[in-house]
Amino acid sequence: MVLPLVLLLGLFGLGSTAQWPTPRRDAAYPPPEMLAFLKPFGALCVKETGVTPGAIKRFGDEDIFDDDRALKCYMDCMFRMTNVTDDRGELHMGKLLDHVPHEFEDIALKMGVRCTRPKGKDVCERAFWFHKCWKQSDPVHYYLV
Ligand SMILES: *[C@@H]1O[C@H](CO)[C@@H](O)[C@H](O)[C@H]1NC(C)=O
Repeated sequence: MVLPLVLLLGLFGLGSTAQWPTPRRDAAYPPPEMLAFLKPFGALCVKETGVTPGAIKRFGDEDIFDDDRALKCYMDCMFRMTNVTDDRGELHMGKLLDHVPHEFEDIALKMGVRCTRPKGKDVCERAFWFHKCWKQSDPVHYYLV
């Protein structure tokens, strides 16, 4: 009985690699006020890092990929621009949550609860670590602007 089960799990695993649930994208989510708040900083950070809009969209709405240095630094730039970093330039979770509209606080808290010990050799790598962790934790509600 054990072997067929292992085989089944193996097949299921193979068949479901790189499958993400459909992200939630409607009139209420991502919150329009967040999108409006983030948009001008996004434009500045695209300029600063040279990231392509395609890379932002692909990571936000599709798959995780980790070979785009500009995207990682874009994520760090957005943290800096929105003042959610501490005096060492690292993400400060409390400051980030201050930006989240009240009705979405639970979603944000759950998404981030296990994402607290970033790894990476610099601020870009660590900003990316957070985004990757959030997307893996809640791919439906994760978004990247
Ligand atoms: C970030 O902090 C700077 C300096 O205190 C301030 O001028 C700026 O308005 C703040 N930006 C945001 C988005 O809170």
